[in-house]
Amino acid sequence: MEISMCVPLATDIQAVGAALGRAAMPGDMVMLNGPLGAGKTTMTQGIARGLGVKGTVSSPTFVIAQIHHGSSMDLVHVDAYRLESIEELDALDLDTSLDISLTVVEWGAGKVEVLSGDRIEIAIERPQGANAGEDPEDLFVDAPRMLTLTSYGCRGDAFLTALLADPDVLALVEATESTRASLEQPE
Ligand SMILES: Nc1ncnc2c1ncn2[C@@H]1O[C@H](COP(=O)(O)OP(=O)(O)OP(=O)(O)O)[C@@H](O)[C@H]1O
Ligand SMILES: [Mg+2]
Repeated sequence: MEISMCVPLATDIQAVGAALGRAAMPGDMVMLNGPLGAGKTTMTQGIARGLGVKGTVSSPTFVIAQIHHGSSMDLVHVDAYRLESIEELDALDLDTSLDISLTVVEWGAGKVEVLSGDRIEIAIERPQGANAGEDPEDLFVDAPRMLTLTSYGCRGDAFLTALLADPDVLALVEATESTRASLEQPE
């Protein structure tokens, strides 16, 4: 299954993240793909909120993986940027098991798919055109992102279906569709 939606504000991507956290089941995996400053960590902060994590989620760049204890389940936040093999992740000897946690991976494309055939992959695209070559300093200002969510496996499909039933997500999908419809209308 695949769905896409526009997230105009950082708080919108966090709302989608929170809905993901609420819809997740133990053992689920979410891959967040997108360029530097796309909003992967910002979305993970929303996911943490949805799982009932207290405390802040920041970029795990220098540690590969960070575990946050949530009220529904733990969040394993992985930054695979420097990960060269999946064995390295095993070698970290995380004090939780991926089977009972939600695993969220930044920069994992082409690296961590073997961890789970059941997953949601989220591509986060930053605006092009007038914003191409945008100064990284400006990345912190709200600017629309396009999310494309693709599910893999039966559990991945069920996870995405549950996400789509969330009113916050539904509202963003509907807003995106009505914008598309108005753009397609003949003059
Ligand atoms: N619509 C939006 N969605 C997500 N982030 C947004 C949006 N608008 C503005 N931002 C801002 O863009 C920045 C995204 O930074 P973030 O650290 O989440 O990106 P990242 O993809 O994790 O980067 P990195 O590749 O360095 O890990 C944040 O400061 C966030 O507030
Ligand atoms: Mg990040």
